[in-house]
Amino acid sequence: MKHKTAVYRREHFNAAHRLYNASLSEAENLALFGKCSYANYHGHNYEVVLKVVGEINPATGFVVDTKHLSDLMKEHVLEKFDHRNLNLDTQEFKSVIPTAENIAMVIHELIRPHLEPNLDLTVILYETERNYVEYPA
Ligand code: NI
Repeated sequence: MKHKTAVYRREHFNAAHRLYNASLSEAENLALFGKCSYANYHGHNYEVVLKVVGEINPATGFVVDTKHLSDLMKEHVLEKFDHRNLNLDTQEFKSVIPTAENIAMVIHELIRPHLEPNLDLTVILYETERNYVEYPA
């Protein structure tokens, strides 16, 4: 039997954020999030990998066109988040703490509706070279 194939597309954006739970005190936020809770925000160079798994389409030889993935990321994610303050400038993180986990989940929600239903999407988000998350796990 034929196996499915995974196709990966890597994109990049810069953004500022702050990890802060408004229902907690400043001291509690500092204890929970450390330097990531500092009031004046800090930036990351985020790397996003879309992993798309599916059958190879015999008509194209593709699982999915990586140009299509690149275009979807530009239109639905990078336009919103690149060079933005995630807490202040985006609707998505008005009431959601912009951790790597939540950013990966939001990116999945933004991209998923634009892919064929028979393709599986996983979002891998690198906040630093050493810290990265995968959604869904
Ligand atoms: Ni951070």
